[in-house]
Amino acid sequence: MKRVLLTGGAGYIGSHTAVALLKNGYEVVIYDNLINSSILVIDRIKKITGKNLTFYKADVLDTDFLKEVLIKEKIDTVIHFAALKSVSESLEKPLEYYKNNLGGTLSLLEAMRASKVKKIIFSSSATVYGDPKKTPITEDFPKGICTNPYGWSKSFIEQILVDINGSDKEFKVVLLRYFNPIGADKSGEIGEDPRGIPNNLMPYICQVALGKLPYLHVYGDDYDTKDGTGIRDYIHVVDLAYGHVLAVEKIDELKSLEIINLATGRGYSVLEVVAAFEKASGKKIPYKIEARRPGDVDKSFADASYAKKVLGWQAKYGIDQMCEDTWRWQLKNPNGYESEDK
Ligand code: NAD
Ligand code: UFG
Repeated sequence: MKRVLLTGGAGYIGSHTAVALLKNGYEVVIYDNLINSSILVIDRIKKITGKNLTFYKADVLDTDFLKEVLIKEKIDTVIHFAALKSVSESLEKPLEYYKNNLGGTLSLLEAMRASKVKKIIFSSSATVYGDPKKTPITEDFPKGICTNPYGWSKSFIEQILVDINGSDKEFKVVLLRYFNPIGADKSGEIGEDPRGIPNNLMPYICQVALGKLPYLHVYGDDYDTKDGTGIRDYIHVVDLAYGHVLAVEKIDELKSLEIINLATGRGYSVLEVVAAFEKASGKKIPYKIEARRPGDVDKSFADASYAKKVLGWQAKYGIDQMCEDTWRWQLKNPNGYESEDK
């Protein structure tokens, strides 16, 4: 069975992908420096799946060690999740973001070349489309202007991977453009655990529901949408994780370079998400309408038909399930992983 290396595999999406891969019979090696995750995740993944995995606490910037691991672990495919991901922090610390995200990817690519590992699946983002001219967004839309260094780091890395694939067609690249992942494994053992005050909608709503924050700031109600609030294509992280399993499974049959949106194809407004969360949790979410958040687009949702065509993948879970599973994780872990390492 294929052995898969997950850089950043202890993080939110990586941990769910590790569970999905293990459940589908793959062997998993996680390589993560825990800069934004907890060591507790590793045991939780083992607990959910009843399977073992190998973990290295190490930095992707350490090319020599990464090369050693790729060879020693006989890795077939790399899924590259490792990155810093806060939009607001990236505006304050662009150098750190470019060094970690771009530098980390260059280091990984060098290590892959040296160890002759030739398959990579990359965690990209809908952010690379910038402000799309229309919706739904298909993969052939031009890439757009990003509004922050985090977004640019994703866009630049995509280009680097396209160029490397151009120079060596045997180097297989799958760019997975995620829309808005939310939700958690149904066990409630793993989930999203942001540090400090959350930037993103669902973690912020959870903190309000737990009584840790007084109300939700709704950024703008004057967008050109049904209720004036921003629309996004929220996708259950378990569906997203399974998309990676199919990408690993089918990578040999895919084109040498593939770009695939992972999304449900359906958009929800901020107020619709609030209503769905209230229904799932039984908690009232007070909110205040405020000015638009700089850099936000009004609508972002995908046409997800290409993922169905090439991977046979389709999202199974709807917004109600996403909210229920998020809330179960939060109730079970009101302070996240509570690890000293975090
Ligand atoms: P996360 O922060 O939970 O996970 C990222 C992991 O990478 C963390 O465990 C962190 O410790 C690790 N990491 C960071 N730098 C590292 C380094 N130099 N060496 C080793 N490990 C390192 O984030 P996530 O939400 O799971 O996102 C995973 C990937 O998906 C990221 O690349 C992110 O940019 C991308 N993505 C996320 C979203 C989202 O909304 N969550 C949307 C689109 C794309
Ligand atoms: N929002 C609020 N209040 C909040 C947080 C968000 O009203 O406290 C609104 C935003 O204005 C937006 C929607 O909720 O309309 C979703 O916002 P998120 O911050 O949850 O998600 P974004 O779509 O802005 O960004 C996310 C990731 C980025 C990624 C992008 C595209 O955070 O990393 O999706 O994939 F680049």
